Amino acid sequence: MDKIISFIGAGKMAEAIISGLLSSKRVTNKQVIISDKYDNRRMEIEKIYNVRTVTGNTVCVTEGDIAFLAVKPQDMAEVLEQCKDTLKQKLVVSIAAGIEISFIEGLLGKQTRIIRVMPNIAVTEGEGMSVLMKNAAADATDINLVKDLLSSVGDVIEIRNEELFHAVTALSGSGPAYIFMFLEALSDAGVRMGLSRDVSNRLAIQTVIGAGKMAKNAELSFATLREAVTSPAGTTAEALAVLESKGVRSSIVEAIKAATQRSKDISSRNK
Ligand SMILES: NC(=O)c1ccc[n+]([C@@H]2O[C@H](COP(=O)([O-])OP(=O)(O)OC[C@H]3O[C@@H](n4cnc5c(N)ncnc54)[C@H](OP(=O)(O)O)[C@@H]3O)[C@@H](O)[C@H]2O)c1
Repeated sequence: MDKIISFIGAGKMAEAIISGLLSSKRVTNKQVIISDKYDNRRMEIEKIYNVRTVTGNTVCVTEGDIAFLAVKPQDMAEVLEQCKDTLKQKLVVSIAAGIEISFIEGLLGKQTRIIRVMPNIAVTEGEGMSVLMKNAAADATDINLVKDLLSSVGDVIEIRNEELFHAVTALSGSGPAYIFMFLEALSDAGVRMGLSRDVSNRLAIQTVIGAGKMAKNAELSFATLREAVTSPAGTTAEALAVLESKGVRSSIVEAIKAATQRSKDISSRNK
């Protein structure tokens, strides 16, 4: 891939993608250019990743082939307005939660090639989950290019119904936070049962990684995998019975439902 990638906004998510792309060696530091309105942040990113940063968003977009818009949703209109003329010539990739393709088309025109992405923070570790969708103007080459880039920092799925982004945001976008909470609970429980914090943390982390890998690689349903570690009247069965009686499973469903609704509410403000 010999394209130049511009990032508008050097926040947490842009950094996660940049760091993942560079460490996967899919792109080199010479292929990344970044602008951010906050000078200290630009300098920090420049120092850590040895990439070029500029003050002006328009300059940043002009110099690239693909423009990743990585500002907060509430700053998106300002950036689109400011770089309108240059963005129209580029492949525009928006990672802003809740910003619909039609909103971007409204400011740049329907002929602009746009790809909307919902990544998650695990792209930093090359284990992200990115869901993407293209607009009518973008073609197979455009979507394949972005899929190829993001597949170097994790798994990628293309969808064709934009409405599903709300569920995606709730599940994989916010998902790492749920797992971190689960890890905290597992670790606290281990400490309560007498393990040291360090040991408890390691046990919790490796258990989540191991179960995740098994779920991904074994061609078995999650239920079958769970049954395989649950012997009759054993310790696992005892723990699972408590989790079921406390409504953990239904609480998770309710949580994702609430996050999906929240995404719809936030999104309707940006129309
Ligand atoms: N974090 C996640 O897990 C996650 C997951 C999926 C999608 N996203 C999406 O990714 C986007 C970025 O999120 P984030 O968490 O990385 O936010 P963030 O850390 O606040 O990053 C946004 C960056 O853009 C800068 N910025 C704001 N307005 C700008 C402008 N007009 N020109 C240039 N730079 C500007 C901000 O600077 P100031 O701080 O000075 O305003 C900040 O450095 C959001 O739209 C979010 O919905 C995030």
